[in-house]
Amino acid sequence: MSIKAEEISALIKQQIESYDADIEVKDVGTVIEIGDGIARAHGLDNVMSGELVEFSNGVMGMAQNLEESNVGIVILGPYTEIREGDEVRRTGRIMEVPVGEDLIGRVVNPLGQPVDGKGTIETSKTRPIESPAPGVMDRQSVEEPLQTGIKAIDALVPIGRGQRELIIGDRQTGKTSIAIDTILNQKDEDMICIYVAIGQKDSTVRREVEVLRQHGALDYTIVVSAGASEPAPLQYLAPYAGVSMGEEFMYNGKHVLVVYDDLTKQANAYRELSLLLRRPPGREAFPGDVFYLHSRLLERAAKLNDDKGGGSLTALPFVETQAGDIGAYIPTNVISITDGQIFLQSDLFFSGVRPAINAGLSVSRVGGSAQIKAMKKVAGTLRLDLASFRELESFAQFGSDLDKATQDKLNRGQRTVEVLKQGLHKPLVVQKQVMIIFALTKGYLDDIPVEDVTRFEDEFLTWMDQNRQELLAKIKETGQLPDTEEMSEAVETFKKQFVVTE
Ligand SMILES: Nc1ncnc2c1ncn2[C@@H]1O[C@H](COP(=O)(O)OP(=O)(O)OP(=O)(O)O)[C@@H](O)[C@H]1O
Ligand SMILES: [Mg+2]
Repeated sequence: MSIKAEEISALIKQQIESYDADIEVKDVGTVIEIGDGIARAHGLDNVMSGELVEFSNGVMGMAQNLEESNVGIVILGPYTEIREGDEVRRTGRIMEVPVGEDLIGRVVNPLGQPVDGKGTIETSKTRPIESPAPGVMDRQSVEEPLQTGIKAIDALVPIGRGQRELIIGDRQTGKTSIAIDTILNQKDEDMICIYVAIGQKDSTVRREVEVLRQHGALDYTIVVSAGASEPAPLQYLAPYAGVSMGEEFMYNGKHVLVVYDDLTKQANAYRELSLLLRRPPGREAFPGDVFYLHSRLLERAAKLNDDKGGGSLTALPFVETQAGDIGAYIPTNVISITDGQIFLQSDLFFSGVRPAINAGLSVSRVGGSAQIKAMKKVAGTLRLDLASFRELESFAQFGSDLDKATQDKLNRGQRTVEVLKQGLHKPLVVQKQVMIIFALTKGYLDDIPVEDVTRFEDEFLTWMDQNRQELLAKIKETGQLPDTEEMSEAVETFKKQFVVTE
């Protein structure tokens, strides 16, 4: 039997054609179930976990549950138009967001699309929103300060570039205000800020953006917003989108600050979509991998070594507690991942101590080495002193006659609390912080009435500006504590002319 050349080529052609068709079938599936922002599709045999898929009406989805007979897809957009039996296609792409300079000054959703009505964003670069954290050898230890401009933080729980510091507290305790003020203070600090708002009211986000704009902070800030009315998948993705935008700058040797406000709402969104995907619920009905949800996000904060450009990404995650319970599931998880926490307490807040930082429960595990020398010297024991003052204070309520040492401690404590109070949107430069804390810890405020301390501080710092410019400049430039006599002289000279209210 002889084989004809035409026959062979016809056979091969036929094979190639059916081979093509085979792939096609595997890359297009059919929706078999739809509801609550989740679709199940049949036929997407090769889809990857986290891959973007497109429904026949153009809405995008993300493949999440890869099961034997079907795929669970979260829908990233309006899902009411999608019907059972609709087509769904693979895109072969993992979810990514646009990155780069052009996003600065804009408000975008977690997909990187503008929501501020200022037109399209022209970027040529994108980054996948999930990417591995820098490895051990790519990092170096955190030792450059990130000045928040908030006395109570810079002095007591300093934050370094590349650190992850949790800010935790009940609702309405001034959490967001700390984020906004920290961003405002990054003006002229060569820092790019990314504010990720998760599950907040659009009106709140609007107000925050407005504050940033008024203070000129939008010039170096990107706002990523997944509002309360957005579907859960978008709220879940927002922090990853934010950190990816930040990484682009970090890997180019820049310094970035990313604020996640807040991760409780992100965890809730993730719980919602996990339950809808019928993943088994665990403690507090969160899925088993809720720890990984936050650890893989926060591990992406880093201070890169000099070979990698020396950039940094500092993360300030926020967590909201219920009735001050920091032992709940999400708070303990995030506390164990981060390098310290700043605990805001509502009774302090309502008694007028703002920012309402609880000194005893707040700590920064790497920050000490990231403080400038001058600050470290003057504020060395301040946090512990303040914490012990709080304990003493509650005891002293019961005792009537106190010995002098205790009385002195109480006096100093009351003045410390006053000095650490700070108004909204009034960040203070570090050299001025050093001066006022120097005056406090050297006892110059001990004989100033408590109600005059705030005024003393204001007038003293204005006086410093007018009369001791060089001293302030010296602290700023060298970072060292100058001759203490020079500083004492300044405080004493000012104090002579300060008028105490009768
Ligand atoms: N240092 C401060 N001095 C005076 N007022 C402040 C200070 N910090 C915050 N506030 C005020 O307290 C209110 C609550 O602040 P903020 O919105 O920052 O709290 P939050 O903890 O983020 O609240 P939520 O739980 O609603 O997100 C705001 O009206 C704000 O103006
Ligand atoms: Mg808030």
